[in-house]
Amino acid sequence: MKTIKAHNKKFELFIEASEISRMVDNIAEKLNHDLKGEEVIFLGILDGTFIFAADLIRKIEFDCQVTFVKMSSYKGTLTTGSVETLIGIGTGLEGKTIVIIEDIVDTGLTLERILKLVRDQKPAKILTVALLFKPDACIRDIRIDYLGREIPNEFVIGYGLDCDGFGRNLADIYKITGA
Ligand code: IMP
Repeated sequence: MKTIKAHNKKFELFIEASEISRMVDNIAEKLNHDLKGEEVIFLGILDGTFIFAADLIRKIEFDCQVTFVKMSSYKGTLTTGSVETLIGIGTGLEGKTIVIIEDIVDTGLTLERILKLVRDQKPAKILTVALLFKPDACIRDIRIDYLGREIPNEFVIGYGLDCDGFGRNLADIYKITGA
């Protein structure tokens, strides 16, 4: 098993780039099928989603807009339980189909917070996309419309996901070993 060290912690290979790519293709195919003809704005949640959003959006075949918000809830490998908005949502979402792109849904607090901010702007429809979901960690009733896959409640890095800013550059996804 391939292991690496990032930010002084040991991680082992968990999801290879080829599988990630298949997950992205699968989500893009569904979005292309479901949302053709709608006025769509993709709303990526920074920082973790920058790679996933870039890959996904390049596979979208209809005319669309793309924007980002920046939220923060994690310190190292632990969630703080409170979500801070660092860069908010602009205006102009009214009447549009908003597709929120999240890298990973853990407690669900970040997505819940974003959903509230987006709803306040009266869009026609809100859809959620997440590459990964930890059902055992989720404490909110969150609907993910387009999901890559579920994972156990373990800390992961790579493909944009970080541990205190480290590990985002890895092409594969790794999980913490605890060793
Ligand atoms: P939530 O608010 O607890 O659902 O957490 C969402 C955010 O926490 C994600 O957008 C990530 O930035 C971060 N996060 C949650 N789990 C992990 C993980 O396993 N590795 C890296 N970041 C994570």
